[in-house]
Amino acid sequence: AAQPGTSGLAFGPIDPVNRLVDEFTVPAGYTWQPIIRWGDPLFSSTPALDFEHQTPEAQAGQFGYNSDYLDIIADPSGKSGVLVNNHEYVNPNIMFPATTDPAERRRRGDIYKAAQGMSVVELQRRKVGEPWSYVVDGRRNRRITVETVFELTGPAAGSDLVKTAADPEGRWVRGTLGNCAGGTTPWGTVLSGEENFNGYFAWAADTAAQKRYSGTSTTSTETGWEAYDPRFDAHDPDYVYEPNRFGYIVEIDPSDPTSTPLKHTAMGRFKHEGANVTIAEDGRVVAYMGDDERNDYLYKFVSKGRYTAATSTGARKRNMRLLSEGDLFVARFSGNSPAGEITGGGALPSDGLFDGSGQWIALTRDGESVVPGMSTEEVLVYTRLAADLVGATKMDRPEDVEPSPLTGKVYLALTNNSNRGGASAPVDEANPVSGNRYGHVVELTETSGQAGETFGWSILLLCGDPSTTAYTYFAGFPKELVSPISCPDNVAFDSEGNLWISTDGAPGTIGYNDGLFKVPLEGDQRGNVQQFLSVPREAETCGPVIHDREGLVFVAVQHPGENGAVGAQRSFFPDYVAAHGGGRAAAPRPSVVQVFRA
Ligand code: FEO
Ligand code: CA
Ligand code: CA
Ligand code: CA
Repeated sequence: AAQPGTSGLAFGPIDPVNRLVDEFTVPAGYTWQPIIRWGDPLFSSTPALDFEHQTPEAQAGQFGYNSDYLDIIADPSGKSGVLVNNHEYVNPNIMFPATTDPAERRRRGDIYKAAQGMSVVELQRRKVGEPWSYVVDGRRNRRITVETVFELTGPAAGSDLVKTAADPEGRWVRGTLGNCAGGTTPWGTVLSGEENFNGYFAWAADTAAQKRYSGTSTTSTETGWEAYDPRFDAHDPDYVYEPNRFGYIVEIDPSDPTSTPLKHTAMGRFKHEGANVTIAEDGRVVAYMGDDERNDYLYKFVSKGRYTAATSTGARKRNMRLLSEGDLFVARFSGNSPAGEITGGGALPSDGLFDGSGQWIALTRDGESVVPGMSTEEVLVYTRLAADLVGATKMDRPEDVEPSPLTGKVYLALTNNSNRGGASAPVDEANPVSGNRYGHVVELTETSGQAGETFGWSILLLCGDPSTTAYTYFAGFPKELVSPISCPDNVAFDSEGNLWISTDGAPGTIGYNDGLFKVPLEGDQRGNVQQFLSVPREAETCGPVIHDREGLVFVAVQHPGENGAVGAQRSFFPDYVAAHGGGRAAAPRPSVVQVFRA
């Protein structure tokens, strides 16, 4: 194995870490520190986190909870920049001491509203290549919360399906919810996926369209907002369509803290994991997007307009409209091996590969519905129903999907699917494992241009612990040499084009803490999964950012200790007594961490 060197990111893979260990583990020769933690103030007027006396006002000026998508965007000098981070959800069971007081529960609800959303935080350092620190009162510092106003863009903006009593125009939505993965665009904005927005609403679920998003009718939620804020109660006749205003890709401009963030209806509405953008040969913008639900779909959006390669304010404004107009496609995968060879047990078919061809099926063309019986607005608001009608392929929970900046090949993380192999979703060559417990990664190659409508595909990895699961597959690399990996979630690339994968779900499947893994895609190391770091117990590894030329790796540590209780929680990340010398934290704090050479 490689050893830490003097340039780049050479490292010896770490051993997998048992799921009960409450440590952040990095390779020999590296160390780590949080850049910013839940509750750290973004402004000098904001108090530090006080577990006993937290207020909604304080939280609205502090870094949010449960960090997910992350980017570290350096300015041209390399000595300043911004950190952009999603705050997907809250863990009420471990954030504060338990309470049954109704007034306190109401106050907590407002804290939860302020703890979710997104953060933009300025960074600085003395020298290029050094680790970063965050800047209190940075010019670009911003919190986006469940009360921040977004502009709805695209064909469904202004339609009856997105109007409520508070927004009779159907154009202005307060808040963003369930912000999971995302992507940074070539024009410097950040996209974020509204994923599990359904959990914040009490649902009437009267119609098939509502049920396809909510599951069933509900009357209460974990955050309790519906008890005092009618827009979270879809039984309220004034707010029946409030849930239709979530489940989009949002776009924010981190350079301008006064800018109005956007929600793009043209990119469809589903449990958007995230979106990653690349520029097609003809300058159109192509975005790849997963719908993270068992047996849901992979999507692609192609803009009508063309990218303007300039850094002027005018160019950025034009580029920020690219995702408001274009065509939406959903993927159909076809295998090339006889169906009888796909047994559900994960054994390779006789041609030696799970592979085949695929088609991007249009849901909108020239911006208008091509789905029989559905209007354009219906296709964009009830996108799952449209995709059901055109014969898209049910996938094993499409998470992050990202094109390689070097090759244009697209990598799709399919995290797991306990329902695979059942009557509603038999195994197929693209999802070949019954009950798919450990997930897999698909490599997709566009065969008629990046914006085209045909592709080829093959399975790169069938995840799991090769010492206990025989069918695991690592692109043909000797499986006894790789790190065990389970439940791939976020993907990223380094400057050499290696794929990096972070995981969510390894503790409950292979018994190890979640982590970050490097996977070479070319040459004789293709498929050699090597673990770079491990997060503490009950945490998920998110938002990897790989600045290998600087020897820096960044991750978001989401929901450390989420199964614990205040006072008895089993994670003390990141302010461990021994490591940090201070008092024991009252609760674990989700944080953004940087890893660098010791
Ligand atoms: Fe929030 Fe699909 O992960
Ligand atoms: Ca095959
Ligand atoms: Ca995720
Ligand atoms: Ca990613």
